[in-house]
Amino acid sequence: MNTKKTWITEIAIAAGLCFCGAAMADVATLAKTCDGCHGADASMPAIAGLSEFYHADQLFFYRDEERPCADATSAGGETTNMCAVAADLSDEEIEEIAAHYAAMPFAPAKQKFDAALAATGQAIHERDCEVCHTEGGSNAADDSSILAGQSMAYMEMTFGQYGAGEREQPDPMKKKIDTLSDDDVKALLHYYASQQ
Ligand code: HEC
Ligand code: HEC
Repeated sequence: MNTKKTWITEIAIAAGLCFCGAAMADVATLAKTCDGCHGADASMPAIAGLSEFYHADQLFFYRDEERPCADATSAGGETTNMCAVAADLSDEEIEEIAAHYAAMPFAPAKQKFDAALAATGQAIHERDCEVCHTEGGSNAADDSSILAGQSMAYMEMTFGQYGAGEREQPDPMKKKIDTLSDDDVKALLHYYASQQ
């Protein structure tokens, strides 16, 4: 008997890891489900290019119902939401699907924006947000999502959730967000939309 192999197996079992491969959906099949909504219309957030860390975190939040979930209908006609989607995912599947999308380039949405509002938004971003959302909010390596070129409809919904206290945010960010007027938020939305 190969003792070394046995140790590894025992350590894996003790750590709760599973190398058995049972019931693990392959990533390509999973991604087909995701793509039925993401990228299908302008109200859906773009997920390709998000950092693996940020993406996996969000899926854990949805699975634990720590982030609000909006109902949506996929291109195939199925209505569901992210809490239900994530409820079916194992930890391993979450890590794998997050890595899958992190390896893809982010595609900024082609959307309309007002140039004057975008300029005002840029100044607010540079004052309050750039410290964490670097390069105008386009740097996935911040592990704080990508704001630049994200769907404006999705971003508007997200600011609404932050304003209503429905979605958690880091304390230093909340301090900044809570000082923004409705006009400031509108300007920020146009700034992020202007980065294409
Ligand atoms: C039925 C449509 C639908 C399906 C299927 C779906 N999503 Fe979503 N997803 C949404 C909607 C709508 C939102 C934004 C609203 C919300 O937070 O509930 C969202 C939000 C997200 C976010 C948050 C984006 C951000 O910037 O924070 C991630 C990450 C995500 N989905 C990943 C996935 C993955 C991975 C899959 C496949 C395993 C998937 N989604 C399947 C509709 C869907
Ligand atoms: C202290 C660092 C910090 C500051 C300052 C900050 N943020 Fe954030 N922001 C984060 C982190 C970290 C996340 C990801 C939180 C999570 O995991 O849900 C985030 C997430 C977001 C999201 C959600 C993105 C998505 O894809 O759903 C938006 C929108 C956002 N921030 C906007 C802003 C704006 C606008 C400002 C300036 C007024 C700001 N943030 C300032 C750290 C910060």
